[in-house]
Amino acid sequence: MQGQWFPKKTWINLGGKTEWKRKGKSKMFLNDNLKIFAGSSNVALAGAVCKYLGIPLGGAKIDRFPDGEKVIRVEDDVRGRDCFVVQSTCRPVDEHLVELLIYLDCLRRASARRITAVIPYFGYARQDRKDEGRVPITAKLVANLITTAGADRVLAIDLHAHQLQGFFDIPVDHLTAELVLSKYFRDKKIGNLTVVSPDVGNMKIASRYASHLGGELAIVHKRRVSGSEVEAQEIIGEVEGRNVLMCDDIIATAGTVCSAAELVKKRGAEKIYVGAAHGVLASQALERLRNAPIDEVVVTDTIPLTEQAKKIGSIKVLSVSAMLGEAIKRIHRNESVSSLFNNL
Ligand code: R5P
Repeated sequence: MQGQWFPKKTWINLGGKTEWKRKGKSKMFLNDNLKIFAGSSNVALAGAVCKYLGIPLGGAKIDRFPDGEKVIRVEDDVRGRDCFVVQSTCRPVDEHLVELLIYLDCLRRASARRITAVIPYFGYARQDRKDEGRVPITAKLVANLITTAGADRVLAIDLHAHQLQGFFDIPVDHLTAELVLSKYFRDKKIGNLTVVSPDVGNMKIASRYASHLGGELAIVHKRRVSGSEVEAQEIIGEVEGRNVLMCDDIIATAGTVCSAAELVKKRGAEKIYVGAAHGVLASQALERLRNAPIDEVVVTDTIPLTEQAKKIGSIKVLSVSAMLGEAIKRIHRNESVSSLFNNL
């Protein structure tokens, strides 16, 4: 590994503004060719990735002009460096998206050698098709914007659909939180297990979990009434007297998992666990999760939990930082990323 000794830099958040400052004098081994920057959506995750890699977070100031426009200034020299910007396009979605675009433009104009947009949660992913007249395909628009702004590659986790990779004409490394979620549930050693897909779209994921964890498989047929209302109508498979694990990629309004949980409970399920990569947890989700017959909801830190969500005791958060850090290291060294998932 190339590298040299540099003064250790840690970074502190100054008040309400996202501004980062160096402190500390100890030494650490740093590969100065690799730079990781954090957008304001998920600074904790970016920091944890840097910790995994043993490098400091890149210095940048994110501020606003009095008229509300955002301005970013990268404080480290990035000329010829391999740069990664970690930004989930979670709520406030448009603000985080624009911030990512500005970051990419900033690094491109500062002559970074290669820029990877690390998007742990990719907002707008579900708007990926024109299924009625006069609607946009916003996922494609966002992919175009990210590429135009300057990204050479994308590193994402559990895109809502695999084919979203094709919306980009640059390489996309697509990771899955199944790596951390299935380890967690395997370690729990849940006996008498049925893995339930809460809708037809998640069938493949559920069947992978069932084979890793050694459980039966069941599927719920759901009807979407509106953007926030769903109705679990029927279930194929045996849940009576069994512990249930429900897997989804996103919990947004929690309508999908909560209505499926009600149905499997009615059909005699014992404990009900839910595992999902992205805890979007829109406002009504918290009320629903509080009232649903769910024993534990496990999400990852692709999106930071709100203070209200933290108060719900049944929500547990696992970190994807080691997986992301390992993928970044491998991309940086031109090593295989897919082999990370060989055992899945
Ligand atoms: C659907 O296709 C997805 O996999 C999720 O099941 C869905 O987006 C979750 O949304 P909500 O929590 O609002 O039901």
